[in-house]
Amino acid sequence: MLINNDTIIKDDNSLIREKSADVSLPLSQEDKETLLQMLKYVDDSTVEEIAEKENLRPAVGISAIQIGIPKKMTAIILKDDKGNKVYEYALVNPKIVSNSVEKTYLESGEGCLSVAENHEGYVYRSARVKVRAYDALQDKQIEIKAQGYLAVVLQHELDHFKGILFYDRINKANPFYKDPNALVIE
Ligand code: NI
Repeated sequence: MLINNDTIIKDDNSLIREKSADVSLPLSQEDKETLLQMLKYVDDSTVEEIAEKENLRPAVGISAIQIGIPKKMTAIILKDDKGNKVYEYALVNPKIVSNSVEKTYLESGEGCLSVAENHEGYVYRSARVKVRAYDALQDKQIEIKAQGYLAVVLQHELDHFKGILFYDRINKANPFYKDPNALVIE
């Protein structure tokens, strides 16, 4: 399967709003290959030379529905300034088991591989989440205690399983509404 900016499903395709189903474990060979290709996309997308050559839009995460597969699978890689991986996950059936009341948002707003246009405004999310999932990289059930940017990315990706896009969460009347109790990222 070729994953690039032309093949990734955009928000003008109703498939992006479809709900994703649980994946049966142990992971089938086909599902595993799909997930690892998603992970490779995310990894390659932030390497400028590869991204340019292969038409990849830089990303920190991708969910299976974005390549037309309505299954609960998501690949996430966060790198530091030098391009070293800080977090890397190939998650199956991830579920938020608890979340903080405290909210957070990215000062610069969010983006998405399935959204071509710019949607300005703050996307409020829980400042901390605990996620349980099977991680295909570690080949085991894991629990992630996330805060900050990782918490935002996890919530963005898990929203894709419900057909929710980041701009659905922007306050339409006041896109830059500032909640004084929320943590600002960046
Ligand atoms: Ni997205």
